[in-house]
Amino acid sequence: MSEKLWDGRFSEETDKLVEAFTSSIEVDKRLYAYDIEGSIAHCKMLAKTAIIPEGDAKILISGLLKIKADIEKGDFRYDDSLEDIHMHIESRLAGDVGKAAHKLHTARSRNDQVALDVRMYLRKETENVIRLLIGLRHVLVELAESRIRVIMPGYTHLQRAQPVLLSHHLMAYYEMLKRDTERFRDGLKRTDVMPLGSAALAGTTYPIDREYTAELLDFPKVSANSIDSVSDRDFIIEFLSASSICMVHLSRMAEELILWSSAEFGFIEFPDAFATGSSIMPQKKNPDVAELIRGKSGQVFGSLISLLTMMKSLPLAYNRDMQEDKKPLFETVDTVKACLKIYINLLPKLGIKIETLRRASNSGYLNATDLADYLVSKGMSFREAHGCVGRAVSHAIAENKELHELELDVLKTFSERIEGDVFSILTPEAMVNRRLSTGGTATSLVRNAIKAAETELIKESGQSEDLTI
Ligand code: ARG
Repeated sequence: MSEKLWDGRFSEETDKLVEAFTSSIEVDKRLYAYDIEGSIAHCKMLAKTAIIPEGDAKILISGLLKIKADIEKGDFRYDDSLEDIHMHIESRLAGDVGKAAHKLHTARSRNDQVALDVRMYLRKETENVIRLLIGLRHVLVELAESRIRVIMPGYTHLQRAQPVLLSHHLMAYYEMLKRDTERFRDGLKRTDVMPLGSAALAGTTYPIDREYTAELLDFPKVSANSIDSVSDRDFIIEFLSASSICMVHLSRMAEELILWSSAEFGFIEFPDAFATGSSIMPQKKNPDVAELIRGKSGQVFGSLISLLTMMKSLPLAYNRDMQEDKKPLFETVDTVKACLKIYINLLPKLGIKIETLRRASNSGYLNATDLADYLVSKGMSFREAHGCVGRAVSHAIAENKELHELELDVLKTFSERIEGDVFSILTPEAMVNRRLSTGGTATSLVRNAIKAAETELIKESGQSEDLTI
């Protein structure tokens, strides 16, 4: 058993059950690099303000760097009795460099230390998520550009409604992911605030220089209120909220891929490398990857609810409940990144069955609205035209034909206004390309949307170089 940092006050050893129950090392050990970087900055600040001697700071910094290397080599022992990563590092430092180690925690508490570590971790991971989102938007734009001629049925109520460009459908996801990117970027502004120096809750009696620490750690500002600094987890909740919305989008896309790959739709085929088989049915090719993305969204929503619930009744300032923030946060970061990576690699390899899509957009009376619009162009009111086309559809269903398969003289029985020019407006291409209202599916508009997205992405990628972390 290791000696406790608070031993002075206690006359009894901590119960083993309590040690195991309160320990968070299994979860928070992944913060080690941030903890060490934060401690080094703290040391430099303590030396600069003459709170500790320069010589001690040097010893502490080289000791901390060695611990980092040891952890990375796997030469580090974890032990429940040392609770968390902060105590592990401090305790190892004491073993390695002796008495100087006891000065590291001057003007600092684990309460502001853990807040710092999580903020450093999350700002880095938010940047990673943003980079992946940009990568996926890139993939969608490329797909939309290369498949610009593909027409598919658009749906409402999961019933065929009107033909749209597949590219228009893909660009709808681009818009969702663009909003997600904005949400993560916005949250980053509030994560990127330096809490160290708030100490336990009230600030410290030492003449610290928080701005210097912030500068060393590349934070644009320091937190304003010490009580808030150690009890605020809004930035995590915001990340989980942005992640939840993002997972809603990824899950909707998964649902569509699952439906589209079924024999009933037959619009796409998963590449073999991204599909799975059945242990009993030899013919099966299952979309498990998409199903897991859809399923994993639940874990992310759960993380958001767990943080909200954990925080809602906490009196100020720090409470140990807050230790429970890390597991849901880390899981969410891992899940969102994994799902984005899967899509980035899967989407370019999807088999798109252009002929099936075309056939589907040419049957099921998707041109009914256009026939009504045609009658309006010939002087009929829209409501009257709606009724007229409704009767024509009903007749066509009875005849087992599509509207465009009815003879002109049959069509004329529904309205005398229908002429021979009607057939040219009832093709999927004509229907798509006449939808020229801003944001519509006409090819020219979708091409413009793709161009605008490309420009946006070039600008945003400038801030995020590597798209394939
Ligand atoms: N492991 C703790 C956490 O994650 C660190 C802070 C502990 N502070 C305390 N006063 N016990 O929240």
